[in-house]
Amino acid sequence: MNPVKVGICGLGTVGGGTFNVLKRNAEEIARRAGRGIEVAQIAARRPNPKCETGSTPITADIFDVANNPEIDVVIELIGGYTLAHELVLKAIENGKHVVTANKALIAVHGNEIFAKAREKGVIVAFEAAVAGGIPVIKAIREGLAGNRINWLAGIINGTGNFILTEMREKGRAFEDVLKEAQALGYAEADPTFDVEGIDAAHKLTILASIAFGIPLQFDKAYTEGITQLTTADVNYAEALGYRIKHLGVARRTDKGIELRVHPTLIPADRLIANVNGVMNAVMVNGDAAGSTLFYGAGAGMEPTASSVVADLVDVVRAMTADPENRVPHLAFQPDSLSDHPILPIDACESAYYLRIQAKDHPGVLAQVATILSERGINIESIMQMEVEEHDGLVPMILVTHRVLESRIIEAIAALEALDDVAGNVVRIRVEQLN
Ligand code: HSE
Repeated sequence: MNPVKVGICGLGTVGGGTFNVLKRNAEEIARRAGRGIEVAQIAARRPNPKCETGSTPITADIFDVANNPEIDVVIELIGGYTLAHELVLKAIENGKHVVTANKALIAVHGNEIFAKAREKGVIVAFEAAVAGGIPVIKAIREGLAGNRINWLAGIINGTGNFILTEMREKGRAFEDVLKEAQALGYAEADPTFDVEGIDAAHKLTILASIAFGIPLQFDKAYTEGITQLTTADVNYAEALGYRIKHLGVARRTDKGIELRVHPTLIPADRLIANVNGVMNAVMVNGDAAGSTLFYGAGAGMEPTASSVVADLVDVVRAMTADPENRVPHLAFQPDSLSDHPILPIDACESAYYLRIQAKDHPGVLAQVATILSERGINIESIMQMEVEEHDGLVPMILVTHRVLESRIIEAIAALEALDDVAGNVVRIRVEQLN
C-alpha cells in the first residue's frame, strides 16, 4: 500500500522532534499503522539545526501544505490562535485530516473546528496539546470510557512546575528559573501564559470536555498564577505537611462543573505532590476505576513528538473507517454533549490555607476564630509562629475545612478589617485529592 503523505507545518521544537521520530522509527511506525508515513512537505520559515530534512520539499508558506493535493494529513505545529486557526480550517475544507499540538487553538476554537471536521468527515487529533508525552487524552477518552468521571487534577504546565520546584529546592529566584525554562524550550512564546496559568487553563478546558462530555468553554475557566507566591508560604506549607503546586482542577458537582487553575496546597505524601521539575501529572477519579495517575514529560522536543506521532498512527488506522464510527473528538457523541454549567469561582468549594499577619496582642486569635465560626468555616489546623523581628507581627497560619469560595472571601474581608491584622490575608486553596 502507498504510504500516507503528511505535511508538517512548523519546524520548531515539536516540528523538528516529529520529523526526527518519524524518520528514526519509520519501520516500527509502519508496522503499527499498517502503512508507511512519509513527510511529503514541510512548511518552515527557517531550518531547524536539530533536524536533518534531506530532500524533503520545504516551503515558507503553510497554506502550500494545506492546499497540496498530495497531502493526506496536515500536522499543525505553528502554535497561536490566528494563523493556526486559518490553516486548520483550510486543511479541513480541503478534506485533509489534521494533527495538532495547539492547546490554545483547541481550547478556544475547538467547538467550531470539530463541527467543521464532522461536516467534512475528517479527523482532528490533539493528544500533544495536553501534557506533552503523556497519552492522557487517549486514556480519558478511551481507557476510562466506562467511568462516570468525578474529578481530575493535574500539574499541566511544565514551566510553572519547574519554577516552583527550583524555588522550593534551591531557593532560586523566580525570574532566573523562568529564563532557564525559556532557554530549554519549555516556556510559551509569551511566558505569562505559563506563569499566569493560561496555558494550564487551555489544557484543563480540553481535559474537562473529554472527561465530562461538555463543550469546550475556556472563557469560563478560573485562572490564578504563581507570581504572587512567596518562599514564606512555601515553607509554612511544608511545615504543615503540604507542598504547593500549580494545579488545574475540574470537578463535577450537582450544581455544575468547577474549572479552575490556581496554586494549591497538596498533602506532601500524595504521589502528585512529588512531581517535580518540568514533569507533568494528571490524576483522574472515576466511579469504577477509582483514582488513576498519569505521569511523564509535559513538554520538550521528542516527548511532544511522541504524542503527535501516536495521533498520526491513529489517523492512518482510522482514515478508511466510516466517520460515524470513529472515536468522537470530545469523547462523547457530539449530539450527546451535556449543558451542565461551568460554575463561577465564588460558587466553587475548597479548603483554604490562610496566613494572617497579626499584632502580638491578647485576644487576636479569639477574634479570628469568631469571624470564621460566624460564617460556618471550620478550622482544621492552626499554627502560630514566633514574633517576626523586622515588624513585630505574628504570622498565624490556618487551614480550614471545605467551604464555599464566597464565604471565605467574606471572612477575609472581615479579618482584614480587624485593627489587629496588618496588610492582606494570604489565601491559597487546599486539595486533599483523596
Ligand atoms: N509551555 C508549556 C509547558 C509547553 O511549560 O508546559 C507544553 O505545553
